[in-house]
Amino acid sequence: MGAYRRAYEQERTDPEAFWAAAAREVEWTRPPERILDASAPPFYRWFPDAELNTCANALDRHVAAGRGDALALVYDSPVTGTSRRYTFAQLTDEVARAAGALASLGVGRGDRVIVYLPMIPEAVVAMLACARLGAVHSVVFGGFAAPELAARMDDARPKVVVSASCGIEPTRLVPYKPMMDAAIELAVHKPAGCLIVQREQHRCDLVAGRDHDWDALVGSAPPLAPVPVAATDPLYILYTSGTTGRPKGIVRDNGGHAVAMSWSMRNVYGIGPGDVMWAASDIGWAVGHSYTVYAPLLVGATTVLYEGKPVGTPDAGAFWRVIADHGVNVLFTAPTAIRAIKKEDPAAELVGRYDRTTLRALFLAGERLDPATYEWASGALGLPVVDNWWQTETGWPICAAPLGLEPLPLKAGSPSVPMPGYDVRVLDAAGEEVPRGTEGAICIRLPLPPGALPTLWEDDERYVASYLSAFDGYYLTGDGGYVDDDGYLFVLGRTDDVINVAGHRLSTGSMEAVLAAHPAVAECAVVGVADPFKGQVPRGLVVMKSGTEITPDVLAAELVARVRAEIGPVASMRRVDVVAALPKTRSGKILRRTMRELADGRSPAIPSTIEDAAVLDALRPVLLPDT
Ligand code: COA
Ligand code: AMP
Repeated sequence: MGAYRRAYEQERTDPEAFWAAAAREVEWTRPPERILDASAPPFYRWFPDAELNTCANALDRHVAAGRGDALALVYDSPVTGTSRRYTFAQLTDEVARAAGALASLGVGRGDRVIVYLPMIPEAVVAMLACARLGAVHSVVFGGFAAPELAARMDDARPKVVVSASCGIEPTRLVPYKPMMDAAIELAVHKPAGCLIVQREQHRCDLVAGRDHDWDALVGSAPPLAPVPVAATDPLYILYTSGTTGRPKGIVRDNGGHAVAMSWSMRNVYGIGPGDVMWAASDIGWAVGHSYTVYAPLLVGATTVLYEGKPVGTPDAGAFWRVIADHGVNVLFTAPTAIRAIKKEDPAAELVGRYDRTTLRALFLAGERLDPATYEWASGALGLPVVDNWWQTETGWPICAAPLGLEPLPLKAGSPSVPMPGYDVRVLDAAGEEVPRGTEGAICIRLPLPPGALPTLWEDDERYVASYLSAFDGYYLTGDGGYVDDDGYLFVLGRTDDVINVAGHRLSTGSMEAVLAAHPAVAECAVVGVADPFKGQVPRGLVVMKSGTEITPDVLAAELVARVRAEIGPVASMRRVDVVAALPKTRSGKILRRTMRELADGRSPAIPSTIEDAAVLDALRPVLLPDT
């Protein structure tokens, strides 16, 4: 039996022994005596009697172990032409003072802090400073507009917001501060204070009494020692798109997370102390939280924080340049980034210009890895290209080829096999397991392993309704797919109204809410259309109210602008079509699923309940990819 199979079977046979052993990699202020609390299903808690501090595990313990001079964080920013390096000792000092600064603004254990920052070291410092205090951070991706930020403020009710004067996109400067101000204006809940990083590319005005300058406050703050918290206390809330417009506050606890991060960093990605990990994802996403910030530091590795793009900063060789400059051992990004590079450098000429001898593997996640991209990357790098499938909810891979355990054979189109702790089953509509090779709903038998969400922020009911109520005893992933004869999973796509645009998870429901609010719109639908570059792009279909004066072209342009203003540029909604009607059932329900499948390039079965099949036929040219 290989190392993977042995680990998987050990976990299945005795999960508590498996995770107790994994927990020994973490430094606890009170080690766990109980491993799993299964007394109140469907709620499960890992390490219920233990205490620790996540920041102390990521930083202080490495300094105490004599590795204070080892590199912890490398900031590489082609958009500003700068880079900075922090050893574990330097980062500990900076984080301890940032924790002191937050404490001076009244932040304590259990308080929430929203972090709305670009990819700068202060973002990592702010997250770790919250962890040090036992406070709960909630990072909001910079590509979201003020109303989205306001919705998160009202849900998390932060004591403090940490933001910056600006972010820098390749073609423009993004003033973050006005967006933060607008969000505070819109939100019912107002933070008591804001901590603002002033960047030299664009400085902003501070509101007297509310806003504080990062450099001034952190520079003069006393360093603060880590505060031990319960393993079950929340470390962070990360909002993700659900099927409705209201984002879901995924909760990550401290103890299970530290154990899962340490285990997966070593065993899935093969990264340990002294290695260099680069997860080229924004810290606003789950990949950025897990594999840019926490996991590399928890195991004592160096992490790279990159403020740039795969192309255009300055060219498609940027990723290979970073690998050479910093001796990266593992690169983790989204397939879209590789497609972007491939589009500009199809013959992979730029790859050969840089020293890649340190690189051991490329991991890809965030969206389906299409076989063409897999083949191109494998050929260009001559290294394992490992597809891994997971979600914000789980925080670490459900399926992968665990390179740290053993090099399993890879199959194009499949994220390989379930990781220990994930009992993956494919179910039919009646909740029965389907035979191998048959498509169905991908589910995970409860309990979920350490690190996966214990619940949604202050909403146990929604947690159960969203994930646990479809099939008793199972977590519903929202993805459809099948398992082949070798036990490899193939993920075919979402079965709900979540879409994946350039590796960014978005809700068609929230875009529909924006379209529906326009006075000229009678009804609407938003579906994800297959896109060769971004994977999927949203397309709006609207029916105009009769008697409205506006022309279809003007309406479409207004709707595109509204989605950008209300949700943010990240939505990438470029096209809205005004149509005569939307396909419906005889009882008046819009056939979203049928449209979704059609737009995804599949051939859906037309429901027998359809009111008028001609309406759907009329939409084919609009919905089909390549139109
Ligand atoms: N702050 C402000 N705006 C942002 C932003 C941020 N942090 N990130 C993206 N945007 C803006 C972009 O500037 C763009 O604006 P535009 O419409 O004015 O051009 C818009 O949001 C859409 O961005 P994106 O979808 O990222 O498209 P892009 O063309 O700018 O870049 C890629 C395409 C492939 C380079 C980029 O999407 C990428 O690197 N994707 C990888 C995704 C990833 O890492 N996902 C995490 C899971 S692993
Ligand atoms: P997020 O929560 O943003 O990480 O998005 C999670 C969703 O992205 C999953 O439910 C999938 O639909 C999709 N996804 C992530 N990784 C993969 C992958 N390797 N293959 C296919 N789909 C993926």
